[in-house]
Amino acid sequence: MNGAPKKFAIQAENISKIFPGVQALNQVSFDLYPGEIHCIVGENGAGKSTLIKILSGFLKPDRGEIIVDSQRFKALTPHQAQTLGIQVVYQENILAPTVSAAENVFAGQEKVGNFGLIDHQKTFEEAEKIFSSLGVKLDSRMLVENLSPSEQQFVKIGRALALQPRVLILDEPTAMFDKQEAEAVLSLIQDISQRGIGVIYISHRLEEIIDIAHRITVLKDGQKVACHDIKTEQINLDYIAREMVGREVKFFQKKKQTKKGKVALEIKNLKIKEAGPEVSFQLYQGEILGIAGLIGSGRTEIMKAVFGAGQKLKGEVSVAGKKSQIRNPAEAIQLGIGFITEDRQKTGLALNLSVIKNTTIVGLNKLPTSFFNLFLNLPQEKLIVQQLVEELAIKTPSLEQEIRFLSGGNQQKVILGRWLFKNVDIFIFDEPTIGIDVSAKSEIHKLMANLVDNGKSIIMISSEMPELVAMSDRVLVIREGDIVAELRAEEITEENIILHAFGVKN
Ligand SMILES: Nc1ncnc2c1ncn2[C@@H]1O[C@H](COP(=O)(O)OP(=O)(O)OP(=O)(O)O)[C@@H](O)[C@H]1O
Ligand SMILES: [Mg+2]
Repeated sequence: MNGAPKKFAIQAENISKIFPGVQALNQVSFDLYPGEIHCIVGENGAGKSTLIKILSGFLKPDRGEIIVDSQRFKALTPHQAQTLGIQVVYQENILAPTVSAAENVFAGQEKVGNFGLIDHQKTFEEAEKIFSSLGVKLDSRMLVENLSPSEQQFVKIGRALALQPRVLILDEPTAMFDKQEAEAVLSLIQDISQRGIGVIYISHRLEEIIDIAHRITVLKDGQKVACHDIKTEQINLDYIAREMVGREVKFFQKKKQTKKGKVALEIKNLKIKEAGPEVSFQLYQGEILGIAGLIGSGRTEIMKAVFGAGQKLKGEVSVAGKKSQIRNPAEAIQLGIGFITEDRQKTGLALNLSVIKNTTIVGLNKLPTSFFNLFLNLPQEKLIVQQLVEELAIKTPSLEQEIRFLSGGNQQKVILGRWLFKNVDIFIFDEPTIGIDVSAKSEIHKLMANLVDNGKSIIMISSEMPELVAMSDRVLVIREGDIVAELRAEEITEENIILHAFGVKN
């Protein structure tokens, strides 16, 4: 290239953005070459999503400029950004739930056939082509609401690609994926970048970042603290984590084994599908029971049925040795069971309510119903929530802040806080640390260890192998709706889990 400077696909100069009570970005500059994978990392609330929302025209910066094609912009509109070839796969769910996958892929650019009518056949076929180029088996006629969160993510990526972008921005695209699915997305992204598309990639999975990044920008409290070129610098995971957090971070420390108590929960011959298997298992006091399995293996469905939130055809549930009927979540909560959901946008949060309301929402029904009592309890409630906010390092200007204004990871922490506030005996965590930064993750792991130390019990569904291995006292591996292995102590290794999950080992 004769030393001629390479042209950027997009560039941002000295971007600042203030929200009430928060400086989300402070003089951040950022650039991206065509064909480059430029990753952005930082703690929950560091400003990553805000930056990409500014690059894609969904937010206006207070200061700074965006440069595309030698044109300078004070701000972009979403339409301008699209026209300039900037496409985003957001953290939030933006698909139409009651419409097919294919129609979601081509929303706004429908395949038109004869007489100007929408050509559904073509829409399905073209969408299937895109999915298969993603290496994904997905029936494009399925309604989005019937797809798993990870399948929905593929639909979002498919939609962005259908618009043939020059810049593709992905905000935590693999957060809900198991190792295999995540790898499919990562290799797809490398593929996309080799086609000359510039990729901006946000993830809390630092191992992924180290694997695929050409450059890594680190944000902390709205400021850029570093930009590393992977080709020329020796960078490792610990180093990046330390820059993000500002101190040493301990990854996945093995939890010490706790003394197993009495049976806290017993499930006998639970059947959730007509032709499906019956499953039985026990959960002990003081135990973290890890639930492993591939996405779609039925892990969540089994636990939802236990919680009374999903279909249950037959089966017996005993809580603390007593046979119990759990017909709905309210009954489960009455019995001291809490379910921390994987899909925070859909089922987890009341987005228009404040942090304090979202935390106390399930706790409240425990209090006497009289208004007078409710009133009396308020200051104390506030105190407890305040303490949780501090313990989980939830980044919010106040307890009154509406949840929808919190960053993705901080929303997840509110869900966790909610159940901690409720003080149940049995916790079912479905992917508890999705989208949570490395330091908060280790705080949450400490909290979980504390809970079981105090005689509580935890069922933890996780796709993150190191998390399962570090935290579980026992692991059940689920395949095709059935428990195919029970691993204890030294048997709990990533390799063992994967072999059983894939059915290589019996
Ligand atoms: N619309 C908004 N109104 C008010 N505050 C906001 C809004 N959007 C973001 N914030 C705040 O700006 C800060 C940066 O948020 P941002 O979503 O960019 O974080 P993030 O780095 O993407 O975090 P995460 O890893 O949790 O997704 C946070 O403190 C957040 O609460
Ligand atoms: Mg974010």
